[in-house]
Amino acid sequence: MLQAMHQKFESLYGVKAEVSAFAPGRINLIGEHTDYNGGYVFPAAIELGTYGLASKRDDRIIQLYSNNFEDIGIITFTLEELRFDSKHDWANYPKGVIKYLSQEFEHIDSGFDVLIEGNIPNGASLSSSASIELLTGWLMKALFGLDLERLQLIQIGQTVENKFMGVNSGIMDQFIIGMGKSEHAILLDTATLAYDYVPAKFGDYVISIMNTNKRRSLTESKYNERRAECEDALAALQQQLDIDALGELSFEQFEQHQKLIKDKVKLRRARHAVTENERTLKAHQYLKENDFSSFGQLLNASHASLKVDYEVTGIELDTLAETAQRVEGVLGARMTGAGFAGCAIALVHKDSIKHLEDEVSHAYKEKIGYLPSFYHVGISDGVKIL
Ligand code: GLA
Repeated sequence: MLQAMHQKFESLYGVKAEVSAFAPGRINLIGEHTDYNGGYVFPAAIELGTYGLASKRDDRIIQLYSNNFEDIGIITFTLEELRFDSKHDWANYPKGVIKYLSQEFEHIDSGFDVLIEGNIPNGASLSSSASIELLTGWLMKALFGLDLERLQLIQIGQTVENKFMGVNSGIMDQFIIGMGKSEHAILLDTATLAYDYVPAKFGDYVISIMNTNKRRSLTESKYNERRAECEDALAALQQQLDIDALGELSFEQFEQHQKLIKDKVKLRRARHAVTENERTLKAHQYLKENDFSSFGQLLNASHASLKVDYEVTGIELDTLAETAQRVEGVLGARMTGAGFAGCAIALVHKDSIKHLEDEVSHAYKEKIGYLPSFYHVGISDGVKIL
């Protein structure tokens, strides 16, 4: 792929690429919708990701091209024009990163050309957008010799989502794409950013990624709505509790004070945030103890909570996860990422992968009308220069 990209770069821009980089996508093992509630998440970077090439220019023009969006063509703007523009579609993600990095680093004093190609399916909840953000930052670090730390870029990526794209997301996606380690998952405490690398080894079991092939829609507005509901529930609890986030509560504490949350829907949202946080800590423990079957049960419980209490699954994700949960050789399954569409994951015995794919495809086709896709990929490093 890289060789073809180098040729394409030259034919697009008439110069050779100076630097190349790769940023992975991610799955989240467990800990969903906890990262903006000061809770724990347990993601891993995957070998599907985004490749990028770049070269500096003599003027202040930036040109971006993606092999994944050939119909959109080259997107051009200058260092003075770093505003969100809906016509610029996918390129708003790199543009946002360029904006905040050039505010931070004065010596970004020339434009550059970029070519991008990714193999993360779009809208599949595998973080193709955070992957592009981190990729852009790492290419710029190499091009301009920036003294840019991983954590700083991670935070800039989140700012791009929150302030440039208008999605009030947490820090999970950027963090795992920035800090990922081959064959490891990361338990991250989003309240303190303390983290622990854990070998993502499941004995004879592997993670199967199952794609609904339904493009997400409404995700951004529903996502922001969930976050606001959690904030309201927190405010209600703060009448009596001295806490800064739902992630600080044990389930017992929550039960004792839940009557403060008068709105039944917000009560369920908060209950998910609290129970999911406890499941995530238990899952971390079970994985360290090689207790894969208890780990799998937590995946099932997580999905049920996201379905009933948090209401971010939908018929496509439910069909994937719940069918997978019943397949022999599967220890557990759940949706991964923001939800509404996108992907689910299953922990499946390596000899049962084909069986899982057959059973799930059959049930999904019957109910939804088209087929899901499956990916079996390794756990990758975070963003890196190639
Ligand atoms: C999206 C967001 C993350 C996180 C997940 C849900 O991926 O970008 O910050 O909130 O949804 O866990």
